Amino acid sequence: MCGIIGEIGKVNVMGDILEGLKKLEYRGYDSAGVAVFTDAGVRRVRAVGSIAALEEKLRNDAPAGTLAIGHSRWATNGKVTEANAHPHRAGKFTAVHNGIIENAAALKAEYFAGAAFESETDTEVVVKLLDRFYTGDVGEAIRRTEAVLTGSWALGILCDDCPGTLFAAASGSPLLVIETGNGRCIASDAGAVQDPVSVTKLENREYAALTANAVTIYNEKGEPVQKAPLTATAGALTLDKGGYEHYMMSEIMQQPEAVRRTLAAVPDEDYIRDAREIVIVACGSAYHTGLVGARLFESVRRIRAHAEIASEFRYADPLIGPGTLCIFVSQSGETADTLAALRLAKEKGARTLAIVNVPGSAIATESDEVILTRAGREIAVATTKAYSAQLAVFYCLALGKTEALGRLPEAIYTAIAENDEKCRRVAERIAGCRNIFFIGRLLDNAVSQEGSLKMKEISYLNSQAYAAGELKHGTISLVEPGAPVIATVTDETILTKTASNLHEVKARGAFTIVIAAKHLADKIEADLTLTVPDVGPLLAPSVAVVPMQLMSYYTAKALGCEIDKPRNLAKSVTVE
Ligand code: G6P
Repeated sequence: MCGIIGEIGKVNVMGDILEGLKKLEYRGYDSAGVAVFTDAGVRRVRAVGSIAALEEKLRNDAPAGTLAIGHSRWATNGKVTEANAHPHRAGKFTAVHNGIIENAAALKAEYFAGAAFESETDTEVVVKLLDRFYTGDVGEAIRRTEAVLTGSWALGILCDDCPGTLFAAASGSPLLVIETGNGRCIASDAGAVQDPVSVTKLENREYAALTANAVTIYNEKGEPVQKAPLTATAGALTLDKGGYEHYMMSEIMQQPEAVRRTLAAVPDEDYIRDAREIVIVACGSAYHTGLVGARLFESVRRIRAHAEIASEFRYADPLIGPGTLCIFVSQSGETADTLAALRLAKEKGARTLAIVNVPGSAIATESDEVILTRAGREIAVATTKAYSAQLAVFYCLALGKTEALGRLPEAIYTAIAENDEKCRRVAERIAGCRNIFFIGRLLDNAVSQEGSLKMKEISYLNSQAYAAGELKHGTISLVEPGAPVIATVTDETILTKTASNLHEVKARGAFTIVIAAKHLADKIEADLTLTVPDVGPLLAPSVAVVPMQLMSYYTAKALGCEIDKPRNLAKSVTVE
């Protein structure tokens, strides 16, 4: 959460900074700001809201310079106000920050008791510390500041005395040093920078000084270190909206290709060999793919497996050790809870395997083994193609590369083509409702969890997913006349059971919608039926999720919601 960028070049860098911020906006969009070294010193411009609001402010007053930093914020400490927007400034220092300084309050009391602060942020404490410890050597000020900080940070720093140097420091939050044809940059994500020539990651407590001609990276003792640039890049599947109104729709459409590329890239290796037990750990939608994975490992491979939410697992003193294979799933590869869970699993001696979309990310780097999904960069906060790519990896792990799996991209394409228009019409009906329910059994339940999350995160309608048989143990009391209940049925062996549950809610006035595998569509009654290709019950989540994504998208659209950037959310969650 929060995106930072900085550049030192030979010509005005403000255009690059703003373009970069737009690419980082997925990390947070509460406010945005820039600071640029002009002939008259450092100028800051900040605005509440999206980069567009900042651009608007810059339209009539656009400071220019060859050295600048920028920030897009997801508020953690302090409300969404201009005073809390980055960059923050104190004395001779100006900085942008991603992360959380956990001991900010203690540092404030120790070093700045009674001093005036212009913001409520932890970042202002950092800038004040830099200024306090500065005696003419910025590297020393950074080292002394980092020595007293706890928490996580990626910092882009300007010092009034150094108009030709961009400083950067990191610990626990991602920060890349990137050389391009035009200049030298820092960024939270390489995708923010056009045409990177080389990308180097700052490791914990390393800091860097970038000038127009050179980059020097230092360790925490202040000694210069030589580092190898990262080789892998994110593997672009289109970065624009591909002619669609929203990234989310463009990314839904890219799913067949994302799955095809992922299937082709997973090595032919039995990763779950020797595992006595498998624990899949992740957050959000990635956790939902774990629900599918765990079921597959148990039912197909007959290995004990379950999925855990990373924020729970990390504090639960889990019963794992040698013999346990812990699989960590993450699009970004930097989700704080998942990363902490990975470190815990390693400490406890478990074997670790990561399924990650961003090469070079912390989770990809720290895990014993890694499988990269090839979804390409995902911009919409609500994940679609990364979810599908993660599922594809679980299929490879649990089933091996079967012929049926090879046909999955085509089936996903058909699911999109056959449901797009229907889902748009269903969405108009759903948009007028207060509560939406998703039900299913086994894998149909696992995918329903994802469908429900998609619906609530972008349409803001209350949506819940339940194991079909569990609904009557409480939640059915919420089913009012007209409430949509969306049942997924892709497994004939449990069809009659879910069908009974659908009758139960129908009897209470629900508006029933079924997502059925094509050959089962006639065997279950509902007010409305959506069909998905027959790929067999094990692979069905990959096609069943498609109408769920489309219904969510069109419902949010009908309600006029900000689809790519839903309120209060961020794509990459680097705080607990
Ligand atoms: C956020 C995103 C979700 C994502 C989750 C985990 O909540 O909005 O789409 O599933 O984080 O993120 P990760 O990058 O670890 O997959």
